[in-house]
Amino acid sequence: MRIDKFLSEMGIATRKEAASAAKRGGVLINGVPQKDTAKHIDPELDEVIYLGRKIEYAKFRYIMLNKPEGYVSATEDGRDPTVLELLPPEYMNFNLFPCGRLDKNTLGLMLITDDGELSHRLLSPKRHVDKKYYFHSKFPISEEDASRLETGVILDDGYETKPSKIELLGDGNEGYITLNEGKYHQIKRMLDSVGNKITYLERVTFGPLSLDPSLERGEWRPLTDEEITALRNAAK
Ligand code: URA
Repeated sequence: MRIDKFLSEMGIATRKEAASAAKRGGVLINGVPQKDTAKHIDPELDEVIYLGRKIEYAKFRYIMLNKPEGYVSATEDGRDPTVLELLPPEYMNFNLFPCGRLDKNTLGLMLITDDGELSHRLLSPKRHVDKKYYFHSKFPISEEDASRLETGVILDDGYETKPSKIELLGDGNEGYITLNEGKYHQIKRMLDSVGNKITYLERVTFGPLSLDPSLERGEWRPLTDEEITALRNAAK
């Protein structure tokens, strides 16, 4: 890969900035200044130092975001801001997209990546990756309705939901629901099917990932190496 392409793909410098830094001796390849950024390197093997900073090669990016209300889980939207707009501009060099969808008014854990294959596997119905949500409902959920929701209910389009898990809290109008599928507005439609209504929804886990409590709404951080490994294992 060309040095300038590597630096721009890693979100470090534009090709122009890289060329100008290299001319000034600011780009070292394996410890040796390289003035020509059109030269090729092996990003997995060669050490690149840009203006004194060692640049690690990452093939893909994995970001945990605490989604706020009002943002849509899309790469582009003519009307509403997208979750990608919460990331800093240097991330726009990558083909990032949200892995799965949360409704505009749903909050919480969103994975953003440019690893299409992993994302596809995590979302595949074959893999049954669990997603856990904290919810509030308009009315308390009876034990009987909880057990219907867990076994499977018929949604407004005739789809029968797969088994889920419900943990009720307080008076029964809040709790956790865990699904391993993700149909359009699924939890809202499940509650509708038992004559109830979701009034608050927040995703707290996605497979092995848990929403980092130190992230405020709208904040994000890269996944740790351990989290990436756990995700890959969940997608096997
Ligand atoms: N179910 C919903 O109804 N909405 C979401 O955003 C996620 C799951």
